[in-house]
Amino acid sequence: MNRPFYTLGIETSCDETAVAILEGEERLLANIVYSQAKLHTRYGGVVPEVASRDHMRKLPILVKEALTQTGIAISDISLVAATYGPGLVGPLLVGLSHGKAIAFGLGIPFVGVNHLEGHIFAHRLGSAGSDPPFMALIVSGGHTSLASVREYGRYQLVGSTVDDAAGEALDKVGKMLGIGYPAGAELDRLANEGNPAAIRFPRPMESSPGFDFSFAGLKTAVLYYLREHPGQEPKDVAASFLASVVDVLVKKSLDATRRHQLKQLVVVGGVAANSRLRQQLHACGPERGIKVFFPSMELCTDNAAMIAAAGAFHHLIRRDAHPFSLAPAPALSL
Ligand code: KG4
Ligand code: ZN
Repeated sequence: MNRPFYTLGIETSCDETAVAILEGEERLLANIVYSQAKLHTRYGGVVPEVASRDHMRKLPILVKEALTQTGIAISDISLVAATYGPGLVGPLLVGLSHGKAIAFGLGIPFVGVNHLEGHIFAHRLGSAGSDPPFMALIVSGGHTSLASVREYGRYQLVGSTVDDAAGEALDKVGKMLGIGYPAGAELDRLANEGNPAAIRFPRPMESSPGFDFSFAGLKTAVLYYLREHPGQEPKDVAASFLASVVDVLVKKSLDATRRHQLKQLVVVGGVAANSRLRQQLHACGPERGIKVFFPSMELCTDNAAMIAAAGAFHHLIRRDAHPFSLAPAPALSL
């Protein structure tokens, strides 16, 4: 009888310590995410050294917890997959070293996973997912990229932000409005109470050729607006700002999907949890003959299930494994 194939996934690229156990390529058995957000909120952003130390403290505890939850013995794990980039070098080093140590101790293979590819695999874990070819919009706190996915493991980057990521701009505008870090979910809630047409903020690069994004100027436009209009309702500023971000993301991603003769768009990453983005793409995609997919909310933001899924794919289908000398790659691209 074939033994089940269990992948232990580890994610520590930023401020989430996450551990997952996956059976085969898609059956998720445990998915634990511990957010350090409270630790960083008083600094208004992630402090790398604080993040590294907390990953070191929490990661072994979460690995144990995932094993207990599933009733799987550590000796039954078949593969370890850990994020090796992009991200903060210290936090990456913690997860990578821990993952390699477990694999070395057990005498099992180890696969380092590109965090961005991991986000794309979050889509594969959902029941309502679809197979490539598709256009992927990866929109998170660290990245805003469009990639044509002809098959899993083969990506063509077609556009990315030239300055801030969408989530980064969102977190900074949230800070201007007095919302703690990370601001995305609270800004989303606030915006749903406000008027998205109250203020006409710019739609940066909406009509420029190509599929690159820029959000730094928009963030500055909000800063100046707030200085000149101190009495403006925060909910209207939030709604109008998000309307601008979402308009650009919707137009660029649907245009890119059409231009690359694709009929499916998959939206992943923390900002894919945004309610306006989900609504607008579900409405505008089908009008242009494009089916739009989002992972479930908990798989949009950083997690280790997506890392385990990408790692299992690389090992089981591509027969990949990395040497234990694999180093963190903070600036890794897709
Ligand atoms: O993918 P993720 O967890 O981490 C990175 O890889 O960066 O994304 C985090 C980002 C943060 O900027 C956060 O504010 C944003 O996702 N976010 C949201 C929502 N939930 C999280 N942005 C908009 N609306 C949301 N509901
Ligand atoms: Zn991420």
